[in-house]
Amino acid sequence: MKELRVGMIGYGFMGRAHSNAYKRLTDFFPVQHKPVLKAACARNAEKTRAFADNWGYERVETDWRRLVGAQDIDLIDICAPNDMHHDIAIAAAKAGKMILCEKPLARTVAEAEPMVTAVEQAGVANMVWFNYRRVPSITLARQLIDEGRIGRVFHFRSNFLQDWTISPDVPQGGAGLWRLDVQAAGSGVTGDLLAHNIDTAMWLNGPITRVVARTETFVKQRQHVLTGKVEPVGIDDACLFIAEFANGSLGLFESTRYARGHKALKTFEINGADGSIAFDLEEMEYLDFFEYKQSSGQTTESHIRGWRRIHVTNSEHPYMDRYWVPGLVIGYEHTFLNALADFVKGIESGKPAQPDFRTALQTQKVCEAVLESGRTGQWIETGATL
Ligand SMILES: NC(=O)c1ccc[n+]([C@@H]2O[C@H](COP(=O)([O-])OP(=O)(O)OC[C@H]3O[C@@H](n4cnc5c(N)ncnc54)[C@H](O)[C@@H]3O)[C@@H](O)[C@H]2O)c1
Repeated sequence: MKELRVGMIGYGFMGRAHSNAYKRLTDFFPVQHKPVLKAACARNAEKTRAFADNWGYERVETDWRRLVGAQDIDLIDICAPNDMHHDIAIAAAKAGKMILCEKPLARTVAEAEPMVTAVEQAGVANMVWFNYRRVPSITLARQLIDEGRIGRVFHFRSNFLQDWTISPDVPQGGAGLWRLDVQAAGSGVTGDLLAHNIDTAMWLNGPITRVVARTETFVKQRQHVLTGKVEPVGIDDACLFIAEFANGSLGLFESTRYARGHKALKTFEINGADGSIAFDLEEMEYLDFFEYKQSSGQTTESHIRGWRRIHVTNSEHPYMDRYWVPGLVIGYEHTFLNALADFVKGIESGKPAQPDFRTALQTQKVCEAVLESGRTGQWIETGATL
């Protein structure tokens, strides 16, 4: 068993989700690398120490540059806000470290492109944590599509709805609310939420070539936590866009943080000539499948035709042979464990796991085209290729 010495940057939501994955990897997956939690890094030494003690990191750094330059680190995990990704990733690539970076890859395409160049020139293993690909039901959706079960695709529709920023009294910026500060986040729901939907959509249905969007900022000014001043809000609070895929199908996407009653309603449906597939994150252990034409080539007899609810817990289902017995479910945290397992298997097999930085750049291109279209009202070519 080889050591995989991890340097974690950020101790927030994702710092915790990923730490859990490192700790459990070899308990569940037969890989030859055992993660060692070497160092946790964030600016506040006391809080970072508390995080490190809780999760079992050996030491603490308060300057990410020191962590990136450290000899005893093999892999840098970027769990800091989006404005940090570019500098950390480029420095880590130059230092020859493997890099796992949270999504979105960066704030803009201009930031993301040199990150791709840096990891490719350095030849370091890299992946972006688009973890929803590793929800077993979503991986099964990909399998069903690859098996040709839905035939020619006509439609992909998807949403990601939340409701936590409706009050104009919520401030922007600082440690807790950097997502509302365009400087730190790059964009609002487009980069934060729709990036996930776009990654899943393109993984399942190929490149998105053109988009037209309507974005809105409902609360135009908010107090900034760092300056104390009321400042303009630069992020998109809501985004709706229509997309064209290279395969000729049409996409419809919606995301908002103003859908009262929804915390993380994340769904997609894909309609093909021979069948349809639907997913809902609130019932993530299920995949709904409508089979019109069977793999035998026969159409399903009309009196028994209907939506089938697949409980994705059998050992034949993606990732599920690593966990419990059929019928018993896994959760959100396992999507990170599954992603990490794929990354490590990629290192060991020489067949790198996806999405790497180059693939995540394609999602970044779509996000940027969506935002540009939101500003101009025009159809925009994305330039995304896979
Ligand atoms: N894959 C997913 O589903 C998912 C979910 C949430 C967040 N994210 C992404 O993960 C990243 C982090 O988001 P989060 O929700 O964990 O944020 P968070 O606010 O909970 O944590 C951010 C962490 O970054 C640290 N940080 C900030 N500036 C730093 C600096 N200069 N040096 C070192 N550390 C610094 C903070 O101390 C904090 O620990 C973002 O890019 C976000 O888009 C992805």
